[in-house]
Amino acid sequence: MSEKEQNILNELTLMIKKKFSNESTGHDFYHIERVLKISQYISKHEGADLLITSLGALLHDIDDHKFNGGDWEANKRSASKILEKYALSNNIKDQVLHIIENCSYKGSHVDNKMQSIEGKCVQDADRLDALGAIGIARTFAYGGKKGHPIYNPEIKPSEHHSKEDYFQGESHTINHFYEKLLLLKDRMNTTTGKKLAEERHAFMEQFLNQFYNEWKGY
Ligand code: NI
Repeated sequence: MSEKEQNILNELTLMIKKKFSNESTGHDFYHIERVLKISQYISKHEGADLLITSLGALLHDIDDHKFNGGDWEANKRSASKILEKYALSNNIKDQVLHIIENCSYKGSHVDNKMQSIEGKCVQDADRLDALGAIGIARTFAYGGKKGHPIYNPEIKPSEHHSKEDYFQGESHTINHFYEKLLLLKDRMNTTTGKKLAEERHAFMEQFLNQFYNEWKGY
């Protein structure tokens, strides 16, 4: 990456740090920072373009539908406005917007439309941050913010055939492991992402076993 490109990334990082300083659902600045680092790591191993990957990672949650009343277009609109400020080619901007439009998980039976290798790196990184110890912490933080109970053994996990289905279901946080988190390992796009997902997946299974053991009491 050139010095000019690195400066753009630094400026964007600062702007995002300010914007997300009071975020408490696990989609905070540190999530963005981790997604940036993980996607850069995957990008290097997969031979993807580092600038496009990095811009996609930094902007992937800039105006997420989960926090703006369900507006799915806002993320792309906000990212597009921000990108206009920089002297980047239209091709780069289009590729970044493609990533932002297709990054989000929309349910267990909804197709993944991510086309570019850079997008696949960012999507893998975003999914990796939903797994493992960090993933568990973020899942309960998000569930709490939404007012969901930790667990209710009477409510079983369900399958979702559309994004509307997926975002309307009222459930408890343990179900989220079965409806999304435990499915992600097999949906990783890249070989590098798959490898990184293994350990995090195993840790979540271990967590759930322990959780059910303790749930029974003595
Ligand atoms: Ni994200």
